[in-house]
Amino acid sequence: MCSFRGERGTVEKPVRLREYGMFKNRCFKKLCMSDKLFSENPEIYDKFFDEKEYEGEAAFMTDAFEERNDTDGRNCLVLGCGTGRHSEHLADEGFEVTGIDKYEKMVETARSRAEGTFRQGTLPDLDLEADAYDLVLLPFNIVNYVEYDELEPTLELVADAIKPGGVLLFDSVPMPPETQSLHIQTVVEDDADHARIVQMQPGGQHQVRWESIVLSEDVESGFFVDNVDITVYDDDEIVTGLEDLGFTVEQRDSYGDATRPEEAITVFVAVKE
Ligand SMILES: C[S@@+](CC[C@H](N)C(=O)[O-])C[C@H]1O[C@@H](n2cnc3c(N)ncnc32)[C@H](O)[C@@H]1O
Repeated sequence: MCSFRGERGTVEKPVRLREYGMFKNRCFKKLCMSDKLFSENPEIYDKFFDEKEYEGEAAFMTDAFEERNDTDGRNCLVLGCGTGRHSEHLADEGFEVTGIDKYEKMVETARSRAEGTFRQGTLPDLDLEADAYDLVLLPFNIVNYVEYDELEPTLELVADAIKPGGVLLFDSVPMPPETQSLHIQTVVEDDADHARIVQMQPGGQHQVRWESIVLSEDVESGFFVDNVDITVYDDDEIVTGLEDLGFTVEQRDSYGDATRPEEAITVFVAVKE
């Protein structure tokens, strides 16, 4: 649930809210998290992102690695590996993949999909072997899922795990426009229909709230609520954080052709000195 791109085979409609007043007096404190799409429904997560260009993104990552890497191995760590969609393509590219995700059900799905070693773990509280990985990835907004004061420990953790000369690559989303809007995405299949209604709204200097209702014929109740607070950063603070840890950093606005023009992301490609 990260960007709201129209997926081939799905329909997506932005719907302007007519009544802004309904949100005006809402207390913007910590949201009751209920991220059931990740924690309990990896199959439905995959349906909403079925047309995401995972293979193209993995090709971009492989090329970026091969152009810059100065190590002699292909050990790849995927943090926030989700259902293993990048991992399967990276394994095909000859990487020895280790994937870690906060939710066991995501990990189980990744294990069944991709060659590699997958385990549960939550950033930034992970035990990682030092100087062990040639390539480290946090693909699809993973840094945005850690709290603002956890960015530094997360980058430190990664810096420690990556070999000198190795490559770190991840993306981050910016603060969305002030205007509130709803997005509807539908996935129609022969045996079941699924839809989600998502509202995204800024919640302070570094916070964005994504609140969703997911409707699915694959869950017994027919629906579930999916609420997540995410953290947004200034790109400069990420660059400075990485440089302070001894990385040389490049910024891109996409994963090349694999990113749709309407998708606003920054991709950081960093090499550990
Ligand atoms: C948008 S999904 C991306 C998953 C996968 N990388 C992909 O591209 O499909 C975000 C993933 O981050 C995981 N996640 C969220 N917070 C995390 C944390 N603090 N540590 C590790 N994983 C986390 C979620 O469980 C979810 O699988």
